[in-house]
Amino acid sequence: MSVNIIIGSQWGDEGKGKIVDLLSKNADVVARYQGGANAGHSIVLQGDKYILHLIPSGILHPQTTCIIGNGVVVDPGVLLDEIQFLESKGINISGRLLISHRAHLIMPYHKLLDQAQEDLSAEGKIGTTGRGIGPAYVDKVNRTGIRIVDLLDKDILTHKIQLNINQKNQILEKIYKRDRLDVAAITQEYLSFDKKMDEYIADISIYMEQAIRDRKNILIEGAQGTLLDIDFGTYPYVTSSNPISGGACTGLGIGPTRIDRVIGIIKAYTTRVGHGPFPTEFSGEMSNRMRELGDEYGATTGRPRRCGWFDAVIANYAARINGLDCFALTKLDVLDTLAEIKICTAYRFDERPITNFPADLRTLKQCQPEYIILAGWEVSTKPIRDYNDLPENAKKYIETIESLVGIPVSIISVGPDRDQTIFQERFRL
Ligand code: GDP
Ligand code: IMO
Ligand code: MG
Repeated sequence: MSVNIIIGSQWGDEGKGKIVDLLSKNADVVARYQGGANAGHSIVLQGDKYILHLIPSGILHPQTTCIIGNGVVVDPGVLLDEIQFLESKGINISGRLLISHRAHLIMPYHKLLDQAQEDLSAEGKIGTTGRGIGPAYVDKVNRTGIRIVDLLDKDILTHKIQLNINQKNQILEKIYKRDRLDVAAITQEYLSFDKKMDEYIADISIYMEQAIRDRKNILIEGAQGTLLDIDFGTYPYVTSSNPISGGACTGLGIGPTRIDRVIGIIKAYTTRVGHGPFPTEFSGEMSNRMRELGDEYGATTGRPRRCGWFDAVIANYAARINGLDCFALTKLDVLDTLAEIKICTAYRFDERPITNFPADLRTLKQCQPEYIILAGWEVSTKPIRDYNDLPENAKKYIETIESLVGIPVSIISVGPDRDQTIFQERFRL
């Protein structure tokens, strides 16, 4: 029995949903600790695709309790739609979903401000998902946010909405030339959420502590990825939370001594949605080819994802920042038809090699990746379930990654379905 954190090692969309779902088979508790409905975690079950934005990816296993921690910013409309969607698929949510009363709410003005900010900034566009994430975390840090606990008291809620809207209306009207928001309508809407969400609201820190004492098997599911982290990502082209493993403690109210293992999900190549530097990004035809091979379109916004080669500088950085114990390498099958595959082993900046991921974007933008070229395997890995049955060149690819980063690849994913997975013998949950 253990506490495992599962994080994204690149720019998100590494396949966290698939791996969390898979490992949830043996889990009692699956918990999200940051981000919000900007996440899109896909699970494919017998050909049926489920895309989850807020509810943890363990929900399809009936024995799990799924947790939304205080670090998550919750859009009640999205949450209730997701509950309804899952129930329409025959999944029972009642008694299995708990939401921290300390979590902050996404309000309509957060989404409006997110979109307005993006529309107005000609050169500084982040390419956000438009889900109100940045503005909601701004209010949290500014101490003007509205929390789930505020839903419980009509007077407090009305007062807080009033204060916020008075201020936001000025910004919306005067800076962004948008329409004013109506306090009464929004208060009414959010009061109605209380009735629908009441049964899920709990003190998550207390629940987690008890689950740990009871020696439950706990999976903690990161959203986004290391390079989208507000502190360690490619700032300012990042999200507004801490997707790295360190965020799990503050986002759930548990101490670092409680964590047993950190698993980094990493794609066999690299993708990114939205703007910002990307050293190994393909140009031209190869980008389109990889996007089609990997079906690289955003699960939340449908935007085409930018694609590039595997970057070991990033993998090393993710291993360090997250304290990774092992990798789960996903989408290996997407490389099946390539004759040659490149891995970036270092960057060259100003005629000098750099092996540590730079903090300064001006430096990062000028970094030239240095590659090694490996021969492809050119057969399908999709039906393979045993590491020994992988083609020699695929094993060489995996072992090269292991030796470049110095941590094991313990899970290999060769397709979107649960069973399209290879476990190394040493991996136990
Ligand atoms: P997440 O945000 O990290 O959960 O990842 P997404 O769900 O946004 O994107 C990953 C996509 O790849 C989804 O469409 C998955 O169904 C799919 N996927 C996951 N693992 C594999 C794999 O090993 N092979 C292939 N071909 N697709 C995969
Ligand atoms: P999952 O959990 C990939 C990106 C956006 C944008 C930046 C900021 O599915 O891996 P935000 O709306 O968070 O303010 O946008 O972060 N982004 C993601 N990219 N996967 C995600 O989530 C993402 N969530 C946000 O595209 O570049
Ligand atoms: Mg995703």
